[in-house]
Amino acid sequence: MDMKVVSVREGDYNLKNYDEFRENFSWDAIERNFSWYETGKVNMAYEALDRHAENPITKDKIALLYSSPEREETLTFSQLSKDSNKFANVLKKYGTEKGDRVFLFMPRSPEFYTAFFGILKVGAVAGPLFEAFMEQAVRDRLKDSEARILITTPDLLERVPQADLPDLEKIIIVGEINDNSKKYIRYAEEMKDASEEFEMEWVDLEDGMILHYTSGSTGKPKGVYHVHNAMIQHYATASWVLDLKQDDIYWCTADPGWVTGTSYGIFAPWLHGVTNVIRGGRFTPDDWYQTLEKNKVTVWYTAPTALRMLVSYGEDKLRRYNLTSLRHIMSVGEPLNPEVITWGMKAFNLRIHDTWWMTETGAQLIANIPALEIRPGSMGKPIPGIEASIVDNEGNELPPNQMGNLAIKAGWPAMMRKIWNNPSKYESYFINGWYVSGDSAYRDEDGYFWFQGRLDDVINTSGERVGPFEVESKLIEHEAVAEAGVIGKPHPERGEIIKAFITLNEGYEESPELLEDIRQFVKTGLSAHAAPREIEITDSIPKTRSGKIMRRLLKSWELGLPTGDTSTLEN
Ligand code: PRX
Repeated sequence: MDMKVVSVREGDYNLKNYDEFRENFSWDAIERNFSWYETGKVNMAYEALDRHAENPITKDKIALLYSSPEREETLTFSQLSKDSNKFANVLKKYGTEKGDRVFLFMPRSPEFYTAFFGILKVGAVAGPLFEAFMEQAVRDRLKDSEARILITTPDLLERVPQADLPDLEKIIIVGEINDNSKKYIRYAEEMKDASEEFEMEWVDLEDGMILHYTSGSTGKPKGVYHVHNAMIQHYATASWVLDLKQDDIYWCTADPGWVTGTSYGIFAPWLHGVTNVIRGGRFTPDDWYQTLEKNKVTVWYTAPTALRMLVSYGEDKLRRYNLTSLRHIMSVGEPLNPEVITWGMKAFNLRIHDTWWMTETGAQLIANIPALEIRPGSMGKPIPGIEASIVDNEGNELPPNQMGNLAIKAGWPAMMRKIWNNPSKYESYFINGWYVSGDSAYRDEDGYFWFQGRLDDVINTSGERVGPFEVESKLIEHEAVAEAGVIGKPHPERGEIIKAFITLNEGYEESPELLEDIRQFVKTGLSAHAAPREIEITDSIPKTRSGKIMRRLLKSWELGLPTGDTSTLEN
């Protein structure tokens, strides 16, 4: 165990005394910050946006500082509030009702955030899709969720399935198109005529707010359903973990197609009325540094993959930028290497704070809270109000320093409320009152949690969660591929890369062209981040007698490890 400690820095942190605060904590104290505490009715769009637009002190404050390689724009709370009212009126005009699923398949842009809040204002459930998805990935999600409306751009429209989606009534296009099909609604035209006044749909705390699809080790991606009640924890962690203050300029690098890009790219900063930097497009180290410098970012939430890339480009690159505004850096999504923390202390002169949570958990649960010492390699401690533990497969708690399932006592505010259309999957997460994460970890004597790995076959590549089944299913659609087994292979920068083992159909010969063709097939059919970086042709794929692919065995082969128990092996 690495017990090297990075001590606490001086700072006027929002959460000053972790132990004392945790001991006397109740969520009730947080809930009193919201108007619904009195009325019982709520809407995230009010708490994160309209409340600031109504307040004379914050209405003209910049909410959104947007930039992409092509475009720069700022929006105040008041502007964003009015624009999203307009969009809510557009949605109403086309019959959107409370509880409908309205999906967004578009890059980060001011229109994305306008539409997003418009969806919440009508009481509908927002479904953001990662812009890199290809047709199959889009189809699976729209179909499973029975989405009624989709908002997209002309560039992405060709990846939207045109058939086999009986529930999809309208497609709203942000941008110019020539097609006059009745199904298409033009965003700009509709917004021109829409009223800036809208009567918000007040909903219950337990009403649906957002649906994020994520991958498990088996089956298609699953719709993780979150409700408005999650705001309690977004609000609290924005204060304790992000340490946000009124004059901060905050930047979260995650795309809103993933949960970090909504919980911490939208809700957490805006619940506190903090100026939020949004940068569209993919990034290079220079883009990261430029965005930090130009916007004078003070609080930055990013991922180990990004930080590792900065490390590999060296301190010299960093020295070309003035990053003195930055006071707080956080990381999420993959193990944060101790070396990165050490580098960060030297290069940024700042500690990098790890945070642990998942799509299903809706908000941060374990974190290196600013007022705690950091033990590099550890994810930190559970936030106030959260009981975390290590349990065995029956849900019994294990003593310190013993490895097991990382589990959370069920019932925290931002916890998912269902898996869309899949109650049995939802139930399968819980054992003996614990939510079992699928991560293995241990806890030291002082209550710090140490991540060890995934217990299932879920792949984490550059912080993006990929289900092997989805990739395998796509691979065997290729005419040359007979069978496929997909694993995550350790990689120094990306955490893991996707490696596929395949067998070929009769009449196909191995060649570099064929392998590239298969790779492209997954890339263009599913998405770039799901395409295997390595493909190896084998004579057979190891399977159990019931036909399940033994991915663990493939992994052992790949890594030259002992193969363990193979008694269920069929072939
Ligand atoms: O394995 C853990 C890893 O990412 C998984 C959750 O992925 P996703 O639902 O896409 O959410 C990512 C961001 C909230 C977890 O089961 N993970 C997340 N944070 C960490 C992590 N692994 C190690 N250290 C972390 N801090």
